[in-house]
Amino acid sequence: MRGKRQRQQVRPKTEAELEKMRVSCRMLGELHTKLRDYVQVGRSTAEIDAYGEKLIREMGAEPNFKNYQGYPAAICVSVNDEVVHGIPRADRILEDGDIVSLDCGLVYDGWHSDAARTWGVGNVHPNALRLIEATKASFFAGMRKAVAGNHLYDISNAIAGYLQPFGYGIVRDLTGHGIGSHLHEEPVIPNYRMPPLQRGILLEPGMTLAVEPMVTLGTWRVSWDDDGWTVRTQDGAPAAHYENTIAIREDGLPEILTLMEDEESDPAVFRPE
Ligand code: MF3
Ligand code: CO
Repeated sequence: MRGKRQRQQVRPKTEAELEKMRVSCRMLGELHTKLRDYVQVGRSTAEIDAYGEKLIREMGAEPNFKNYQGYPAAICVSVNDEVVHGIPRADRILEDGDIVSLDCGLVYDGWHSDAARTWGVGNVHPNALRLIEATKASFFAGMRKAVAGNHLYDISNAIAGYLQPFGYGIVRDLTGHGIGSHLHEEPVIPNYRMPPLQRGILLEPGMTLAVEPMVTLGTWRVSWDDDGWTVRTQDGAPAAHYENTIAIREDGLPEILTLMEDEESDPAVFRPE
């Protein structure tokens, strides 16, 4: 895009719209809190999906993933080397030592929310726990740059810069995205380092974004299963995913709209040994 002047394509939300986003996103934070306790050894990924869908509907909301481009479930449940978009299955039973990513979204009163967490099941290898923690911390490294007046790829570069010393793989084939009255809006939000002359859009107050680093213990390269959805690492290494819907503010750090009630929101910066 060098030398080309880009028209700003992303309309910030009004305060009234933001208030509706907050409601949708708060519901999603509550959903994640309940699903966290439901992730246990012996549970099938289909049970997690069914429980999640039931909770969403009980809240008076709808699962925005279901039937999205033909996706067959309400929740994406991705185990170990599955990175994202794992399709829940009755015969996929969680075992001790698994790590499981739950990517959930809902739509309430026309406004979308989207968030993901990765949980360990039982006794998880320390390397996988460190991956989960670093993935979350990379999101918060991005948040420190998610400030009006900065550019979008300041977020991307901060996420990538945080992860780089660990030597983890950063998935490139999937990205974060704008969100609002649609699940996926502009802009595309990479989690990898962008070339210096590309800065991305100017961040303005009221922009609502889903920022979602996907990180692996091995290669960044992924492949798609024959089901057309499940994304897994090419080398079979485990992967973690951490995502929140956020709003850029007039000044200061962004509002993180989909946090769980009791969630540590800015963990001490985590460094590799
Ligand atoms: N959080 C996922 C994403 O942004 C939502 C996927 S919707 C699905 O890609 F239908 F593809 F599952
Ligand atoms: Co998303």
